Amino acid sequence: KQEHKESLFIALNYAKDFFIEKMTKTSEGKSVGIGYFKERGFHNQTIENFELGYSLNQWDAFEKAALQKGFKEDILEAAGLIMRKEDRKYDRFRSRVMFPIHNLAGRVIAFGARTLKKDDKPKYLNSPETEVYHKSDVLYGIFQAKNALRMEDNALLVEGYTDVLSLHQSGIENVVASSGTALTEGQIKLVKRFTNNMTVLYDGDEAGIKASLRGTDLILEQGMDVRVVVLPEGQDPDSYCRELGGQRFKEYIDKHARDFILFKTDVLLKGAENDPIKKANVTRDIVQSIAKIPDPIKQSVFYKECAKLLNIPEELLISEGEKIKQKVI
Ligand code: UTP
Ligand code: MN
Ligand code: MN
Ligand code: MN
Ligand code: MN
Repeated sequence: KQEHKESLFIALNYAKDFFIEKMTKTSEGKSVGIGYFKERGFHNQTIENFELGYSLNQWDAFEKAALQKGFKEDILEAAGLIMRKEDRKYDRFRSRVMFPIHNLAGRVIAFGARTLKKDDKPKYLNSPETEVYHKSDVLYGIFQAKNALRMEDNALLVEGYTDVLSLHQSGIENVVASSGTALTEGQIKLVKRFTNNMTVLYDGDEAGIKASLRGTDLILEQGMDVRVVVLPEGQDPDSYCRELGGQRFKEYIDKHARDFILFKTDVLLKGAENDPIKKANVTRDIVQSIAKIPDPIKQSVFYKECAKLLNIPEELLISEGEKIKQKVI
């Protein structure tokens, strides 16, 4: 079993090297792959740090090379690198720029692969779940971020691969990506090994704000302090950091970071003005979030603040919170 896992790691590492070589040593890779990253403003240093690569526009370039090297087909398939359709086998990743996903130890466990064609779906094709890749336990960039997470004692949580790249390149290294899904308990536990503080930086669109509200109760339950930054409409951390530069981007974050529960209260209240029933539901929702905070002192501070925002007696919120806790236990 462990032996089998080890052979997946070796195949994935070989694939990572293969994609780097194809990007840096072939004319297709240089013009299309490096061309893409350069056009987006990524430096060689960033490309190297994240071991970015390129998969050729061929059906089985990787498979052929890997078999030639002596890799077994079963292993390549189990690693999510090749696909089988009836008798035909072919490379999962073709004609895409490649983002290796590393575990905490820096070993490659999967890939994200971006199309270069506009409107091609999916935009990012990701490795399937495998024996070494459990999507819900991984955060993109954790290996490159781990020292900075400890030093800054804060984790910036972004949505995407390129958000991580851009912030790093601007000198902001305490950043990891959830890769577009709601945060899981496994991912939170991973971050908690390094810091107890998280700042969620989601895209400045409706979906981004919704995503920032989801999953965050989980972070509170784990006793982390959570802040939220909403970016200007139409911006994501990559585009906005590029526009402002690292220094000003950092200032923007510091200035606009808001406590998650107060933020959530505000957002929900905005949709419930002059509607008593909605407001009652919002209140219950907020109380549920507060009830999840393990630290009683923090909890009481939040009851007080939210009572003000909601214009509802603090004692009432507290007694509702106690009821919720009892139900959970
Ligand atoms: P976004 O759509 O915000 O992409 O998805 P992005 O990161 O800004 O990408 P660029 O700037 O267009 O290159 C955020 C993240 O959601 C995941 C990826 O991890 C992506 O980085 N995603 C998105 C997928 O896995 N598949 C998709 O088809 C789209
Ligand atoms: Mn799994
Ligand atoms: Mn988005
Ligand atoms: Mn984005
Ligand atoms: Mn983007």
